[in-house]
Amino acid sequence: MQETLLNQSVSSSVLTEQSIAPCSTTAMRSLCVVSGKGGTGKSMISASLAFMLSEQGNTLLFDADLGVANAHILQGIRPTHTIAEVIAGTASISNVVTPCYEGLDLLAGGSGVAQLASLNGGELELLAAGLRSVEERYSHMVVDSAAGLSRQTVAFAAASDRVLVVTTPAVTALTDAYAFLKVLLTRRPHCRPRLVINRVVLPEEGERAAERLIDVTKRFLGVELECVAQLPDDRAAFVATQEQRPVVRGGGDSPLGLALMDLGRYVSADLDKVRPRGFGTSLHNHLIG
Ligand SMILES: Nc1ncnc2c1ncn2[C@@H]1O[C@H](COP(=O)(O)OP(=O)(O)OP(=O)(O)O)[C@@H](O)[C@H]1O
Ligand SMILES: [Mg+2]
Repeated sequence: MQETLLNQSVSSSVLTEQSIAPCSTTAMRSLCVVSGKGGTGKSMISASLAFMLSEQGNTLLFDADLGVANAHILQGIRPTHTIAEVIAGTASISNVVTPCYEGLDLLAGGSGVAQLASLNGGELELLAAGLRSVEERYSHMVVDSAAGLSRQTVAFAAASDRVLVVTTPAVTALTDAYAFLKVLLTRRPHCRPRLVINRVVLPEEGERAAERLIDVTKRFLGVELECVAQLPDDRAAFVATQEQRPVVRGGGDSPLGLALMDLGRYVSADLDKVRPRGFGTSLHNHLIG
């Protein structure tokens, strides 16, 4: 991993978890699936986790890859409304969510709308207020993030109750995951992101990758990362994409499907432990912070 990325430690003179304490009575628990590098499997994982969580209670899948959204494809639906209308101020979030199936709604990102990839403060505030108004309808929200270190990817992660950092074993993906962690932990020092290594071909490679990232994060950021899953590289991901369904839906007995089901059980239990902060309120606090 590049030396330059490893030389700085996180400043402690930043917002603490206490200073962004919950001020909402929401019961909705939020999980943000992030990575530094693109194409690590965030959408594939989010699709299956949202499906599994929806079996326990109403779940909102928020396609936060705004502008080049594609989470709807993995749920086999074609949304007629998107978040672009919320940002334009012409619709409320409850009017633009698309039901996927019993228990799961999708908040679709707009496709081909470049402006959505870099929302300004006012637009993000509009989104925060909109999300706050629908939170009481859902027990869980899964945020399928865009890749990279934009203001909004970091704000969405910082506002979520839990963050899942997805990387492949490739050194480029690990380096970018570290860069994301560094910025996130500067913003939210008490956050304890969970790590997922995806597209693992040889288990020992996955293990080495996890050890490497855990080690640098501990040494340079002072935070103990926990690796909660190693997901195999598996053609089941391609097949599920072609069939426009989450991997765990109707074919979850592949090695990837089984590993995702284990991850889903972990995530569900882990989210049960959190005291929900209210995503909309928390996003608002991070924007003004
Ligand atoms: N475990 C896996 N085994 C095989 N293929 C996989 C696996 N995980 C993801 N893929 C494939 O990798 C590609 C990228 O996956 P996906 O779209 O979920 O990544 P992403 O992180 O959401 O990308 P982006 O950053 O562009 O949003 C897809 O073609 C997907 O089917
Ligand atoms: Mg994606």
